[in-house]
Amino acid sequence: MTTLNQRTGAAATRLLGVGSYQPERVVTNDELSLIMDTSDQWILDRVGISERRFAGPDERLVDMAVIAGSKALADSGLAPSDVDTVILANCTMPHPIPNGAAQVADRIGVKAAGAFDLNAACAGFCYSVGTASDLVRAGSAGRVLVIGAEKLTDWVDPTDRANAIIFADGAGAAVVGPADEPGIGPVVWGSAGDLVDTIGMNPTGPTGNKVLYQEGQSVFRWATTQIAPIALRAVEAAGITPADIDVLIPHQANLRIVESIAKKLRAAGARPEMVVADDIVHSGNTSSASIPMAMDHMRAAGRIKPGDVALLVGFGAGLSYAGQVVICP
Ligand code: UT7
Repeated sequence: MTTLNQRTGAAATRLLGVGSYQPERVVTNDELSLIMDTSDQWILDRVGISERRFAGPDERLVDMAVIAGSKALADSGLAPSDVDTVILANCTMPHPIPNGAAQVADRIGVKAAGAFDLNAACAGFCYSVGTASDLVRAGSAGRVLVIGAEKLTDWVDPTDRANAIIFADGAGAAVVGPADEPGIGPVVWGSAGDLVDTIGMNPTGPTGNKVLYQEGQSVFRWATTQIAPIALRAVEAAGITPADIDVLIPHQANLRIVESIAKKLRAAGARPEMVVADDIVHSGNTSSASIPMAMDHMRAAGRIKPGDVALLVGFGAGLSYAGQVVICP
């Protein structure tokens, strides 16, 4: 029988650096209340957002991804030629093809990159970090630039008060590469396809574009009951205990969901002083970008430091979810 070669790669992987980008335009709750029936108080109480960023009409998802990806490379001390693979997590590209990752790789200067988009909606960054880590450990990639980038304002009816107050634009990125010691725990991922209809995009909408919809309460219930146990499985898979977690960075969907997950983790043994990401307050819900953007902002603010143990968990349309423990770069 013919036997084939199979590769083996790095014994261990870690995040080598992070970076993020947000559009300049800040949109406050008061500004939104001028165009829809809502209020600053309702949004703060129900979702915890005080402001968010919207991209301009000429600012594309790929443009934001290029900036975040370049910053993550610089933070890693690497040149584009040190990376051979680019994964672009997103669910809001204007067209399915050409994929965004190949465009981002070309513009950053990663020559002949392995490049693909990964759509697991708001779980996309954690899916991508898990995939990148396993590619490097299997020898299929040397170093991987992982980006989560979204232009949700292209897909949300700007007058729909249920969604236009939540979703926003931006990009976050990280570089995954070989390491002496494991710095990325096993990914725990899955899906709840029976809830597929709870978040989606209608083929036509009042803006003439496809329009995002969600059954907010069903998703809220699912997120506040199912995600903490999934996060705890990621902790167990990494071989640590909840008390070892320095930082919790869940997808920034709703501050009440973030707080509910933190409360359940503390009940399971996480320390009261565990730092909990609240980037949604000033960034809104940026889907696949929210976790790396939060990590980058928290590091810049001195709330997390290199070597901290961070628990990441993403969840959203699909419904899809993924989580893993990482050591902060
Ligand atoms: O990122 C992907 C995953 N997504 C999520 O995890 C989102 C999960 N869901 C949520 O975060 C929340 O369900 C929402 C933030 C989407 C909505 O909050 P809610 O507390 O579940 O509100 P609701 O949809 O149950 O609406 C409650 C009331 C309704 O009025 P009535 O029927 O009680 O009179 C709504 O019409 O609030 C009204 N409402 C608003 N009022 C002022 C809905 N949106 C608004 C608004 N401003 N923007």
